[in-house]
This record gives sequence, structure tokens and C-alpha cells, in this order.
Amino acid sequence: MLSDRFGRTIDYLRVSVTDRCDLRCTYCMPKDFKGYEDPPDWLTFAEIERVVAAFARMGTSRVRLTGGEPLTRRNIPQLASRLSSLPGIRDLSLSTNGTRLARHAEALKAAGVTRVNVSLDTLDRDCMANITGRDCLPVVLQGLHAAKEAGLAPVKINMVAMRGVNDAEIDAMAAFCIEQEFMLRLIEVMPMGETGQNSSYLNLAPVQTRLAEKFKLKPQALELGGGPARYWTTEDGKASIGYITPMSQHFCATCNRVRLSVDGTLYLCLGQEQQYPLRPLLRGGATDAELEQAIREAIELKPREHDFNRQPEKIIRFMSQTGG
Ligand code: GTP
Ligand code: 5AD
Ligand code: SF4
Repeated sequence: MLSDRFGRTIDYLRVSVTDRCDLRCTYCMPKDFKGYEDPPDWLTFAEIERVVAAFARMGTSRVRLTGGEPLTRRNIPQLASRLSSLPGIRDLSLSTNGTRLARHAEALKAAGVTRVNVSLDTLDRDCMANITGRDCLPVVLQGLHAAKEAGLAPVKINMVAMRGVNDAEIDAMAAFCIEQEFMLRLIEVMPMGETGQNSSYLNLAPVQTRLAEKFKLKPQALELGGGPARYWTTEDGKASIGYITPMSQHFCATCNRVRLSVDGTLYLCLGQEQQYPLRPLLRGGATDAELEQAIREAIELKPREHDFNRQPEKIIRFMSQTGG
């Protein structure tokens, strides 16, 4: 088992398979973003598998593929299949913007992906184009339904709630998700890179109260999924809305995860700089025991909590660099 200096068990690894994306969500990456690393330098599937296997030997059971947009990298189902077969891995999930999901949903399911989280900030086509830089609402909706049909359950929808941008649509999104049995998660925007530095931050506490009244939701004691969301559930138990509130009510005390970026760096916290490069070991002939030792050293660096509130300008890397 891996545990950090604060007694937290680390059993969830988020693996970014690319820093590229076919969208340009305003809160995530700059419009002219070209990528940080050349694809030939990215970790190969074999290298990713080796790191995940090392984590799995040390007790990690949950892995999530992220990006950038993971489905912009070729043959992701092939990687998924290798990772889902590793002993100890029991939850392999994927966070995606949904543009290529209709094409890949069945292959992902067959490769052992258990579930997907899809970014969808609005049901208004123009608003979607404004946020993402592309007229992509219809294709994302197709992707959502394909995921449901393929049995990638539960399908979660990630909506970054932004004041003056999409906050007027929260109730419509909640109604849509309850009706379609998608699990909505409302997310507070985090100040990552210059794109996260905007005035659209919306505190979700009042939204939580309003939606609880409107849709008769009760706080859910059970944990759903391995992430930081806190869930509220309808009376019939069929639908839930989760809140991810890194700013107004952070969840660092129960943090169970670290991130592997596409250049092989382990990031110990989304909102701090501590990091540990694994690529030199992977390419320098390190043994499995040396790799495990390096991972333990990295976990020692994991900080107690993020600094988004105290130093909102501190994290200059974009979300897509660390892997959301
Ligand atoms: P589940 O296992 O389905 O609960 O996944 P998840 O919520 O952990 O993953 P997802 O990729 O869908 O992330 C949803 C949101 O939570 C994104 O905005 C992430 O950036 C944010 N998030 C996930 N992990 C952390 C974390 O450790 N710290 C902070 N501050 N935000 C996180
Ligand atoms: N703040 C909060 N969430 C973000 N995401 C991307 N950038 C940010 C940010 N600055 C979310 C996306 C995606 C998830 C993986 O991370 O909406 O659903
Ligand atoms: Fe792409 Fe996701 Fe970032 Fe949007 S949030 S630009 S979809 S990686």
C-alpha cells in the first residue's frame, strides 16, 4: 500500500495519455496551444503500462485515462486492454470531451474500460461553441448516448459551472441528466494557467441548496466513484448530482490520487508544483524495484493541500498539462 506523510492512502492514478485536444475549452487551454512535448517523446504504451503495473503492485486499484483529450491519441482501446488486464486494477475509467466517443465506445467497453466521464458544460449549441471553440454539441450528445448503450455505466457528465457563461443553464442540465439517467457533476473552476484566471468563478454552495429543493435531492452518504465529488440523490434513488468544490469546500484531506503526465512526470497535486520525473528511470534501465522506490520517494513529496485560494496565480501550467 502507498501512503503519504499525512496518512492518506494513494490508490488512484490518473494517467494523461496526451496533452493535445480537439477542443479549446476556455478554462482549460489557450486558443493557440500547440502542445508541450513532441509525440515521439511521449511515454509509449509499454512505458505507461510499466508505471501502472508498478502502482498496481503497491495497491493502486483505480486508473483513469485523461488528457488533453485521450481519444485523440491513436489506439487507446489497445492501451486500455493492457491496463485493465493488470492484476489489481479493478476500475479503469476515462475522462473525455465526447467528440470521438460515439466511434470508440464499444471498443473501450470491450477493452475493459468500466465507465466514462464526459465534459458537457451546456445544452445550448451556441454556448457550447463559445466555450469549446467548436460547434460540437450534436456529436458530444451522440457520444453520450453511445457510451450509455455500450454499457459504460454510470456515464457521468462534468459541467464546469461559470458565472455569466453557463450558470443560467444548470437547472436545465440537471433536469436533462435526471431524465436521461446521466450522473451530473457540477465543478467549480480552478485557477490553472492563464485560462483558469477568469472572473467566472461560481461558488456552488447556494446551487446545491437550490437544486436540492427543486429536484428533492438528499445528501448521499455512500461514495460513488473514486473521486472528490459529493453526491445528492433523488427520492427514488435513480439519479444523483455530484458537486466538485475544490475552491469553496476542498477535499484535500481525503485525497487518494496522483497524476502521471504524458512526459512521464508524476504530479503529486493539481494545485501545487511538487513533481517527480519518471521518464529518465524508464529510459535509463531502472529495475522494477528502483521504479517502485522512486514512486515511494515521489509520494513523500505529496503536499497537504492545494493553494488555489491563497495563491490563485501560482499554478502557471494549464489543466491539460497535468491531466485534469
Ligand atoms: P470519479 O472516479 O468518476 O469520481 O472521477 P473524478 O471526478 O475524480 O474524475 P474527473 O476526471 O471526471 O474529474 C472531475 C473534476 O474533478 C475535474 O475538474 C478534475 O480536475 C477535478 N479533480 C479530480 N481530482 C482532483 C483533485 O485531486 N484535486 C482537485 N482540486 N480537483 C480534482
Ligand atoms: N477547473 C475545473 N475543472 C476543469 N476541467 C478542465 N479545466 C478545469 C478547470 N480550470 C475539467 C473538465 C473535464 C475534467 C477532466 O476537468 O471539464 O471534465
Ligand atoms: Fe480539451 Fe477537456 Fe481541456 Fe476542454 S477541458 S480543452 S475538452 S482537455
